Amino acid sequence: MDSPSQHHPLKLGVLISGRGSNLIAIANNIRAGTLPGVEIAIVISNTASACGLAVTRELGLPGEVFVSKGRPRAEHDADVAACLRRHNVDLVVLAGYMRLLSPEFIQAFSNRIVNIHPSLLPAFPGLDAQHQAFDYGVKVAGCTVHFVDEHLDHGPIILQRAIPVLDTDDAESLSARILKEEHIAYSEALARIAGRQYELRGRRYVLRKA
Ligand code: GRF
Repeated sequence: MDSPSQHHPLKLGVLISGRGSNLIAIANNIRAGTLPGVEIAIVISNTASACGLAVTRELGLPGEVFVSKGRPRAEHDADVAACLRRHNVDLVVLAGYMRLLSPEFIQAFSNRIVNIHPSLLPAFPGLDAQHQAFDYGVKVAGCTVHFVDEHLDHGPIILQRAIPVLDTDDAESLSARILKEEHIAYSEALARIAGRQYELRGRRYVLRKA
């Protein structure tokens, strides 16, 4: 079977809008050697005020800002796509990127865009998924890493991590525990992609047949 070392490293373009804790978790795993075969080629933010930009600098990673506010979606996305291509990005990693992508962008990087969502999809797509799950009264919550298609929080699932919802939880404590799982899940999903041992069969992302 192929191992990551037989391929060139998977170059990530990480798109952020805010805090950047998933970016930090991925970067730390790369540095620690626990996410082999992966490197961050560029971090792109769509807001100049994203805390994740300071994090990017501290981590010594290249970062760029393309302010999206007030710009037509396709035009903004074309600038982002050009930047990703300049950095030879293989995989676009949405890490708290709070802007819908244009169909043109999604087609240009078909099956090469991944996202993390703080619920067990297909339950609770959209904003505030942790609060939606808590208010619904679910007993199991979690997060999902998935490929991005043209529908919101909908593409094929790469992996999920589940946790119990405790009677003592409030929405905030549940969100915090889901976030911890996210930080594990994203790197696990990227390792699967970098390992090139999985393939898409319809919507199912499964080990290749030997
Ligand atoms: C995470 O909860 C992620 O699931 C959602 O946006 C949040 C981003 O957090 N898509 P961070 O910026 O990575 O800290």
